[in-house]
Amino acid sequence: MANLVVVGTQWGDEGKGKLIDILAEFADIVVRFQGGANAGHTLLVDGEQIITHLVPSGFLRQGKKVAIGPGVVLDPGTLVEEIDDLQARGLLSDPSALLISPRAHVVMPYHKMLDAARETSKGTEKIGTTLRGIGPCMEDKVSRSGIRIGELVDPEILGERITSRLPEMNALLSLYGHEQVKEKDILPELNTLAARLSPFVADVGAVIRSSMDRGRSVLFEGAQGTMLDIDHGTYPFVTSSNTLAAAACTSIGFGADRIDAVVGVAKAYCTRVGAGPFPTELSDDRGLQIREAGGEFGATTGRPRRCGWLDLMALRHALAINGCTSLCLTKLDVLGGMDSIRIAVGYKKDGKEVEEFPSSTGSLAGVEPVYEEVEGWQEDITGIRDMEELPAKARAYIERLETLLNLPVDIVSVGASRSDTIISQNPFRRV
Ligand code: GDP
Ligand code: IMO
Ligand code: MG
Repeated sequence: MANLVVVGTQWGDEGKGKLIDILAEFADIVVRFQGGANAGHTLLVDGEQIITHLVPSGFLRQGKKVAIGPGVVLDPGTLVEEIDDLQARGLLSDPSALLISPRAHVVMPYHKMLDAARETSKGTEKIGTTLRGIGPCMEDKVSRSGIRIGELVDPEILGERITSRLPEMNALLSLYGHEQVKEKDILPELNTLAARLSPFVADVGAVIRSSMDRGRSVLFEGAQGTMLDIDHGTYPFVTSSNTLAAAACTSIGFGADRIDAVVGVAKAYCTRVGAGPFPTELSDDRGLQIREAGGEFGATTGRPRRCGWLDLMALRHALAINGCTSLCLTKLDVLGGMDSIRIAVGYKKDGKEVEEFPSSTGSLAGVEPVYEEVEGWQEDITGIRDMEELPAKARAYIERLETLLNLPVDIVSVGASRSDTIISQNPFRRV
């Protein structure tokens, strides 16, 4: 029995979904603990691609449960679409296979309107959000004006809650010249969605605590990435939640001593969607080459992802603040065919070494990555399943990272498919 958290260590899209699907085989329940439909997790199994935004990636494992915890902000329309899609594929047919916390906050139509209106008004200064209403929903949660799933599924309460929220929300929308929202325009659809979601509502925190007490294994699914964490990322170009492993404890409600291992997921290079600092970004042909080879286009918005070299200054920061016990290195295949590969081992600013990851966009401005160059490999490694069979230069690259980071690489992903994976050590068995 072990409880494991999987987190992204970069700017999201590290391949968390693929890893969760693999590790779900060894867990009894998979729980999502933060974020919302801003996430896009892609699975490729037996040639079939499935993208989900809210349903945790363990849904392919028959007989297991997936749960959406209290810390998630949930867009009911997106979730119902996902449930319909998965049920049409013969998945999630048992309603008890999916649990939704009544404490999770509802992303309301007006949150998405406000997100879009603000982004438009910011022009070139925009964050580049996913327009999924995440920021405004988190603001309502913290200002205690939010509507939770437990209220969404209670027809006696929902209308009243919306009526009391609309005056201030409409005042905010009018600041951006947005048309006013009326209760009658949104309530009927929300009632329909609520009726669909109602059978799945359960006290997720209590289920997780009781699973742990009974010796079951729980897998916690992170979304976004550490560099998008509201407190520890590249503020203000971040998302609105804490994406760190410790957020699993606070959002679901269990003791930190119950976490046995934290697996950090990192691409063999870096990507970022949306605006914000990205010291190792490549604005030349090599960036385009990585984008093409890695299919680096957002799963949620379709936007081209910005690409750059692996950044160990950012990665060390991420490993430290998550307490990662091992690493999963993804998309190693994408670097094949390059003569040489760069790894940023640190930063310099004004000729001086930067010791800690800078705390603000201002202090990040003007940092110069310090690169170490290693030899590339020419072989296609997608079919390789054993670390020993990797080309010597690919192995050397992994070993160099283990040395520089002082952390073992347990899993190497060499292709998008579930089977394109080298498991050197199962993190569940490490515990
Ligand atoms: P997540 O948000 O962290 O779950 O990651 P995404 O699913 O948004 O983005 C990762 C993308 O890379 C998806 O399209 C995956 O199918 C794909 N992918 C994952 N691992 C690998 C890999 O090792 N090699 C390649 N070529 N693609 C991968
Ligand atoms: P997954 O789970 C990559 C980014 C957005 C934007 C910033 C704020 O698939 O890794 P938001 O809509 O959250 O207010 O946008 O955060 N962002 C992500 N980037 N992957 C994600 O999720 C992301 N979720 C949010 O692009 O820069
Ligand atoms: Mg993604």
